[in-house]
Amino acid sequence: MKKLFLILFVFITIYSFGQKFENLAPTPPMGWNSWNTFKSDINEQLVMDVADTYERDGYADAGYKYIVIDDCWSLRERDENGYLVADPEKFPSGIKALADYVHSKGLKFGIYGDAGTKTCAGYPGSKDHEMQDAKTFASWGVDYLKYDWCSTRGQDPKVAYKAISDALYATGRPIVLGICEWGTAAPWTWGKEFGQLWRISGDIAPCFDCIVDHGSYKDWGVMKIVYMRKNIRKYSGPDGWNDFDMMEVGNGMTIEEDRSHFSLWCMFSTALFLGNDIRSAAPETIEILTNEDAIAINQDPLGIQAFKYTDIDSTEVWVKPLDKGNWAVCFLNRKSGPVNFEFNWADHKIKDPDFEYAVDFSKDKFKLFDVWAGKKAGKTNKAVKTQIASHDVLMYILE
Ligand code: GLA
Repeated sequence: MKKLFLILFVFITIYSFGQKFENLAPTPPMGWNSWNTFKSDINEQLVMDVADTYERDGYADAGYKYIVIDDCWSLRERDENGYLVADPEKFPSGIKALADYVHSKGLKFGIYGDAGTKTCAGYPGSKDHEMQDAKTFASWGVDYLKYDWCSTRGQDPKVAYKAISDALYATGRPIVLGICEWGTAAPWTWGKEFGQLWRISGDIAPCFDCIVDHGSYKDWGVMKIVYMRKNIRKYSGPDGWNDFDMMEVGNGMTIEEDRSHFSLWCMFSTALFLGNDIRSAAPETIEILTNEDAIAINQDPLGIQAFKYTDIDSTEVWVKPLDKGNWAVCFLNRKSGPVNFEFNWADHKIKDPDFEYAVDFSKDKFKLFDVWAGKKAGKTNKAVKTQIASHDVLMYILE
């Protein structure tokens, strides 16, 4: 009998290596993450309030599912048996109880780890503790792991992310793995083997087009992230997404900039992680973040990231093929002033540079739905003629 168990154990161990649960993220994950607003100032009451706000303000109905605590949730040292320990001052009831609370609302719970010896804020990393930590996370009921890349000197990212991916798989619990390697080692070329999404940039900053220079590293405004990588959209799709970072909507940009930021994240089919204090968000912020038509663009089952078709003076034209032969088109005014914008559909023939989609508006006619006005807007047989405010967008679904 013992022998049988041993054979079974060896078989399961070998068989489970190099695998991940399939289809954990058929569409881009949607959730909230503590980092952008709260940094180390996190605790269980905050997480419970966020879960309650999901219900109260319509985030759950809009499709947001995960609630993720980022760095700084643990003690500075492991316990005497090498286990990670949640900070008892921040999480007096423990992580399991918190995950249970989140689950009781029909939501999913996420946590943060790091592939190196220490997290970016100096807490214990999972290097050489992958299996132990994966088991801990699984026993707590974790559904999502964001796995960072600080203090990894000399480590190979593919080896490190495989190690945690294998460990998660071996627990038997389906856990989404968010690879947070910042795009340094081209994770879009290997990330899908190990996880469901991969960061493509350093950290986002709450500004439209700035760079925040910290000396040894930089944070990036929305448009800087948009333009950071070239030719990577072909790698993004169902169950393996380019991750443009958690959002800064509601964190100090103008309402127009927030709308553009959200529109682009939807157009890019990137993960939609709220990064603001949703407990006290302004009504106009909630309106942006829960716009069901914008979210439908993000969650479109084809899962194709938008491409830039062209610039028309200061206006960028972003185009995204959608399921059922539909399209999404987003006009973005980059200028710091309003623009009088005109677009005659019939003059445009558009071909996707990476996938087999094309449209010739002189022949193919569509009905227009204006996402931010929330209403039908005629057809493509008539030119669009309108003013777009500074850093604002006009976004249509064409069907
Ligand atoms: C890195 C990540 C951020 C955040 C912090 C936490 O900078 O890229 O998203 O998780 O670490 O310290």
